[in-house]
Amino acid sequence: MSLDQQHAEVRRRDINFQMQSDIPVHWLNRECHRTRFYDAMSIMFPEGERAFIDSVAHYRSRIPADSPLGRDVAGFIGQEALHTREHRRYNARLEAAGAPVARLEKIVADQRKFANRHLSPRVRLAITICLEHYTAMFADQLLSHPKALSGAESRMHKLWRWHAVEEAEHKSVAFDVFKVAVPNPLLRYGSRCLSMLLVSTIFSAMIWYFTYQLVKSDGRLSDWRGWGRLLREQFVSPGFLLRLIPQWLSWFVPGFHPGWHDNRALVKAASKEYDDWVHAQSSSGKTGGA
Ligand SMILES: [Fe+2]
Ligand SMILES: [Fe+2]
Repeated sequence: MSLDQQHAEVRRRDINFQMQSDIPVHWLNRECHRTRFYDAMSIMFPEGERAFIDSVAHYRSRIPADSPLGRDVAGFIGQEALHTREHRRYNARLEAAGAPVARLEKIVADQRKFANRHLSPRVRLAITICLEHYTAMFADQLLSHPKALSGAESRMHKLWRWHAVEEAEHKSVAFDVFKVAVPNPLLRYGSRCLSMLLVSTIFSAMIWYFTYQLVKSDGRLSDWRGWGRLLREQFVSPGFLLRLIPQWLSWFVPGFHPGWHDNRALVKAASKEYDDWVHAQSSSGKTGGA
């Protein structure tokens, strides 16, 4: 099997995670700052994942629907659409609890509008593959370190692991579409490296700005212990952000492919509970819609 084919089957799992108001505001071990880091990502997802879908779907006509990549593209769009739906519900719960969600979502929506107006489909897809590399790296961390979510409210625990499983499953799809969109290897290499530098700068600034704004809305900006716990988790032990560096650097190796980091066994083990869940829901005639 070639490296290009080293990814799991891309399968949508229609699950309603019941994002309701009884979920505690600080759902991660009752810790404000650590919770808000995840909430910041959730706020970026609906608009961000719509942009991912659009940028990949733009090239769909160039990929036969019955080819392996054509099937993966359909799976990718199906998975991201469901992520968008569940994170909209998640974010509505945050908004109802007083977080400045609309204001922060507007920042992402404005960026999407700017990209649609001023950037070519090829550049938009280059941005997508960089952000998909980030979601794949985060997913790998979350699945490799189950302690990251210990103490999480059970629905949130399930939702974040479900999203991680599916991000890991479809991590190669946009990248493989990019190869179709930009056949010249030199142009492809140059544009994906440049895009990664730009995307990394903007994405890092946004995630910390959003976390800051959410913590501010909780009136906890001067809670240094909370900040200390979050920074320790991200940069010291287990150091999630620090651990991303080798995978981030591998992006710049000529010929890189997301399948180089083979975590299929981990993803398959983690996906089992969701496959069982979907099977049980479909047997009882329930789906996650509405
Ligand atoms: Fe997603
Ligand atoms: Fe994704």
